[in-house]
Amino acid sequence: MNAPRHFLNTQDWSRDGLDALLAEAARYKREVLGDDLRGRSIALLFFNPSMRTRTSFELGAFQLGGHAIVLQPGKDAWPIEFAPGVVMDGDAEEHIAEVAQVLGRYVDLIGVRAFPKFVDWQADREDPVLTAFARHSPVPVINMETITHPCQELAHALALREHFLAAEPGSDPAQVLRGKKYVLTWTYHPKPLNTAVANSALTIATRMGMDVTLLCPTPEYVLDERYMQWARDNAAASGGSLTVSHDIEAAYAGADVVYAKSWGALPYFGKWEPEKPIRERHRHFIVDEAKMALTNNAVFSHCLPLRRNVKATDAVMDSPACIAVNEAENRLHVQKAVMAALLAGRR
Ligand code: CP
Repeated sequence: MNAPRHFLNTQDWSRDGLDALLAEAARYKREVLGDDLRGRSIALLFFNPSMRTRTSFELGAFQLGGHAIVLQPGKDAWPIEFAPGVVMDGDAEEHIAEVAQVLGRYVDLIGVRAFPKFVDWQADREDPVLTAFARHSPVPVINMETITHPCQELAHALALREHFLAAEPGSDPAQVLRGKKYVLTWTYHPKPLNTAVANSALTIATRMGMDVTLLCPTPEYVLDERYMQWARDNAAASGGSLTVSHDIEAAYAGADVVYAKSWGALPYFGKWEPEKPIRERHRHFIVDEAKMALTNNAVFSHCLPLRRNVKATDAVMDSPACIAVNEAENRLHVQKAVMAALLAGRR
């Protein structure tokens, strides 16, 4: 596979490249232990908390004979400055220019988790931490969630393929999602959350040729135009479609997939108080049995972590339709595929 240098976004990768990653991930799921990362190492930089991402990357490197080092800049490692040309008389003790180069002398890969600062979307939408690592690093960089979450996308796509291949045995894995009705539904959360997984869900679902509905309370919850355009472009290329809806019943009707996520409305980014009452008025977007009954026996998933009985009810989470844990498991397998692909041919 002729892979891009980094894994920053699935949109940078060809559809053939993504299909190859998913095929490799399916193989790693069957053959858990291997030596594809023997003698290799990855630095995992977490600027935000994690359970799944940290565990699956550390374990994935170990299971393939490699080694992972976890760093939390500002906690157990020095705080880092990312802006170019600044007088560093604030909290940061070192600059990304040195951090990325030094890590690149030690390790073969760098993973970065850096959520938005939730103050100024125009600044956050430049993905300044991830892009600085990619610019300065001599080794491949993996996005472990910034303003998109491409590893989650692959895990989600693999879980959906597994589900529909079980229902339609003999189907081509690369085609099995085409034409499926996919609903990305906003859900209530007491805090305004990152749009990363929502951006990613639209991106990968349209890439796979699904008929995608973005269901959200009001036009203010439509996602950043960059990701809406990616989704429109993907749908045009894949034969899928993209629709925005604020009508719960119409969106759920006949759906094959329901994916839930909460996010803050971008027009209120950094000044969240006026957004709170809008969010509060839409608690009824919770995924429940009544809504799932409107679907075509849809499968349900979520990236996790999930607040039960806020985003989805116990009944939905505990139903056979819920594949969220399968999706979480698949993080392990897809990330092995990503790490191995980025290192193939690099010694
Ligand atoms: N889905 C996900 O990335 O989980 P963590 O935040 O626990 O890593």
